[in-house]
Amino acid sequence: MTEEQGEYDEEFIATLELMWGEGFLSPGGPDEVSRIVEGLALAGQEVLDIGCGIGGCDLHLVRAHDAGHVLGIDVEPQLIERARAMAKKAGLRERLEFEQVKPGPLSYVDDCFDVVFSKDAMIHIPDKEALYKEVLRVLKPGGHFRASDWLSGSAAEPSPEMQRWHELLDLGFAMATPEKTAAAMTAAGFQAVEVIRRDDWFLQQCRDDADRLSGEAYDGLVEIRGREAADAYVERTRLRVTIVEQGELCPCHLRATKAP
Ligand SMILES: C[S@@+](CC[C@H](N)C(=O)[O-])C[C@H]1O[C@@H](n2cnc3c(N)ncnc32)[C@H](O)[C@@H]1O
Repeated sequence: MTEEQGEYDEEFIATLELMWGEGFLSPGGPDEVSRIVEGLALAGQEVLDIGCGIGGCDLHLVRAHDAGHVLGIDVEPQLIERARAMAKKAGLRERLEFEQVKPGPLSYVDDCFDVVFSKDAMIHIPDKEALYKEVLRVLKPGGHFRASDWLSGSAAEPSPEMQRWHELLDLGFAMATPEKTAAAMTAAGFQAVEVIRRDDWFLQQCRDDADRLSGEAYDGLVEIRGREAADAYVERTRLRVTIVEQGELCPCHLRATKAP
């Protein structure tokens, strides 16, 4: 993998799209994106998406929720290139913009977004409190933070299955517990903080992923990765089922607002 390609190289993107659908590097597709922004009126709103990947979530926010403008940011240039190509193809370049950023503070002025959205990307960012402070800073007064993130179900020592999953994954993951996440959002200054567990939905999703990758999608997976790497990927997907059953991995929705 080259430095340019970062953690999400072409092979990995193709694997994730095989599993989760075109444009998506995280599970649940358009329905899950809609659940994250449930109850918000996004029409005409200015949205920031932190860790936009190849832009599938953002396309849905514009097409299905009529968001006025979405700025998707990501640290990996090849993802930004693909997201831009997708926006061009969709004829939505005015409303869907993508920018490569460096990890760390956001380079936007205070109070400039109506909504900050993020889907399964904050797991890559270790300093959660600094991150939430930045999110709060760039939100307009009364603005909303809506995200999903992969959290750690327990602060205890990871099980052998969890350790093996991390080894196979080889991604820079920094997971906090739901309690620490809520505390960090509150400490950052957010109001109406909610951390909503998605255990049942996610467990079913993980089981479906494992079944598909070892069944109907297996040949496609071998085509993308070769047999040995495909088998390792199937193992990793099965381990994900186990660590969710054990309560060690628990994706949650995060909701909070900035004081008006
Ligand atoms: C699991 S993918 C999810 C992508 C997209 N949100 C989706 O659901 O399809 C996580 C994304 O976070 C990005 N990422 C990692 N660290 C980041 C950071 N510090 N700032 C912004 N994005 C980051 C990765 O490059 C990757 O595109």
